[in-house]
Order: sequence, then C-alpha cells, then structure tokens
Amino acid sequence: MLNAGVGQGGAFVDNDLRDELDIIALNCTSTIHLAKRALADLRSRGTGRLLVTSSIAATMPGSFQAVYNASKSFVQSFALAVRNELKDTGITVTTLMPGPTDTEFFERADMLDTPVGQGDKDDPADVAREGYEALMAGKAKVVAGSLKTKAQAAAAAVLPDSTKAQMHRKMAEPGSADD
Ligand SMILES: NC(=O)c1ccc[n+]([C@@H]2O[C@H](COP(=O)([O-])OP(=O)(O)OC[C@H]3O[C@@H](n4cnc5c(N)ncnc54)[C@H](OP(=O)(O)O)[C@@H]3O)[C@@H](O)[C@H]2O)c1
Repeated sequence: MLNAGVGQGGAFVDNDLRDELDIIALNCTSTIHLAKRALADLRSRGTGRLLVTSSIAATMPGSFQAVYNASKSFVQSFALAVRNELKDTGITVTTLMPGPTDTEFFERADMLDTPVGQGDKDDPADVAREGYEALMAGKAKVVAGSLKTKAQAAAAAVLPDSTKAQMHRKMAEPGSADD
C-alpha cells in the first residue's frame, strides 16, 4: 500500500516553492520509487496486489491546492496505466480515491481556515475498509467514503474543468470558511 502523502493549501504564487516541491517529492517521486520496487518484487513472485492512495482531488483542478491535486492526477494516471500493463500477470493495481477524510491532512496542509478544512469529513476507518475490499477484489479504483464523496466524484466525471476549478475555489480558498 503506497499511502503517504501531504498537501499544501494556499495560492500557488504565494506558497513557498520548497513546500510545493516537497509535495511532488513525496506524493509523486516516492510513490514511483516504491512502486518500482514493489512491483518488481510482485512480478518475480507472479502474484500480488498494490493499493495506491490517490484522491477524488485527482479528478478536479485544485484551486488553492493546485500542486496537491496535480500530484494526485499524476498518481491516478500512473496507477491505471501500470495496472493495464500488468493485466493477465496475476498482479493488480488499485487506486483508493477518498474525499475529505478525518485525519491530520488538513492541519498539515494549513487548511483549517477553509470550508473543506472545517466541513464534515469521512471516517478514515470506513475509507480504509473500502480501499482494502477493492484491493482484495482487484478493482481498478474505488471512490471511498460517504455518499457525498461518491456524488462529488460522479459529478466530477461530467462537469467542465472550469466549473470544477471554481467549485474547488469555494472549498479551499484560505480564510473563506465563514463565507
Ligand atoms: N484526509 C483526506 O481528506 C484525504 C483525501 C484524499 C486522499 N488523501 C490521501 O491519503 C493519504 C494519507 O493521508 P492522511 O489523510 O492519512 O493524512 P495524514 O494523517 O497527514 O497522514 C499522512 C501520512 O503520510 C506520511 N508522511 C508524511 N510526510 C512523509 C514523508 N516525508 N515521508 C514519509 N511519510 C510521510 C505520514 O507519516 P507520519 O505521520 O509518520 O509523518 C502519514 O502516515 C495521502 O496520500 C493523502 O493525500 C487524504
């Protein structure tokens, strides 16, 4: 399970470049590094399952969380591509796509003053259970959590990018929690 990941709220032009590059280093580079090693191992065994934590953020441009959402789009695309490469090998790759979940994520990302930071969150135990079940079933991906999260993901599949970016602004703009 490749799960480690961090975000950073705020406007891209104002954020510290170091913080943004650290997101890419952890969410993208380290995920690739570990996937390379884990999948080589699984291939030599001829069987195995890999779960990669992506996000519904992968499906929408993340205004005020731009690098994080882009990192999850990267992870999502990567995992689905490698899954296809490995079809018929006995190895499956599954992406777990949570919505807002009650962990330390939003505090670490300095997003507690945003609507998404203050809003209702899914229970991490439920999200983990759905991820595990999808992994064991060999599914390509699972949107895990509440009906609201699943509805957001379904809407993201059909809405224009500009609409999704504007919706994300309303969830993640710093200092807008009481708007
Ligand atoms: N919470 C959400 O709303 C949400 C939604 C969608 C997807 N996700 C994804 O879920 C995954 C887990 O995040 P979380 O919500 O559980 O947040 P979290 O409580 O902040 O946990 C982050 C995890 O990443 C690890 N980590 C952070 N920096 C690291 C580094 N430099 N090297 C190695 N490990 C590091 C942390 O380990 P330590 O505690 O030891 O530092 C911790 O296990 C992430 O990939 C995140 O993008 C979260």
